[in-house]
Amino acid sequence: TSPTNATKATMSLPASGLQATHRRPSSCATLPKNALVLPATNQLIALLSIIRNRDTQRQALVSKTPLSSPRYRLSSTSDRIIRLLVEEGLNHLPVKPQTITTPLGIEYEGVTFEGKICGVSIMRAGEAMEAGLRDCCRSVRIGKILIQRDEETAQPKLFYAKLPEDISTRYCLLLDPMLATGGSAMQAIEVLLEHGVKEEKILFLNLISSPEGLKTVCEKYPKLTTITAWVDEGLDEKRFIVPGLGDFGDRYFLT
Ligand code: PRP
Ligand code: URA
Repeated sequence: TSPTNATKATMSLPASGLQATHRRPSSCATLPKNALVLPATNQLIALLSIIRNRDTQRQALVSKTPLSSPRYRLSSTSDRIIRLLVEEGLNHLPVKPQTITTPLGIEYEGVTFEGKICGVSIMRAGEAMEAGLRDCCRSVRIGKILIQRDEETAQPKLFYAKLPEDISTRYCLLLDPMLATGGSAMQAIEVLLEHGVKEEKILFLNLISSPEGLKTVCEKYPKLTTITAWVDEGLDEKRFIVPGLGDFGDRYFLT
């Protein structure tokens, strides 16, 4: 279920015009070093404004034309932010030197990725991020961990995990669009650690975090890296992120 009250966000707007606006949300001021946040560009804020808008969801339910429907807009806009997160995640993987020859016959001292990766989505909402990862890494293996938050207590419950057999040898891109209390993410991280994944080889990719959830996760696992598109103001009494976007899974999958 989504929060019922529209919450007023106290976000200072970036300057209009063509200035580069690389602000960090004020909630980022005290974040641990392993919590990375995408640059707060006007483009990112515009994309987030679309997926946060409750009318995007309302219109979706009455639309009959899939490609022009707001539901499509919700998913396609989320997909664009997810793509930014995946590209940033790939920036943090190790590379080794590689010399190639250009069509002009000139040698170029480049690099190539070193080491194997896999994706792991925290179902269900995390599955929405799989396509973005596949767009960048075509044949990537993707494991699944099904964790559901109790609607009353907000406590996460683990139902199922299916991971690549050799996951302990891989860098692991853990996917979940929402980080509220951090309970689900921490349960998923425990599953990865139990399967032999090294903490420093986990990259958690996430659309929106609460400051308290992000801090809890990053402090408990100081060697992993989190990359989030935006850090919101906090949590409401039902442990929903505010201003947030409601229940991502329900909105993305129209349930
Ligand atoms: C959502 C979200 C995270 C979790 C975040 O999933 O996708 O997994 O809640 O909350 P937390 O940080 O307090 O644990 P949910 O359990 O609602 O299931 P869903 O993926 O089916 O929407
Ligand atoms: N899960 C969501 O989808 N949204 C929240 O705000 C919290 C948990």
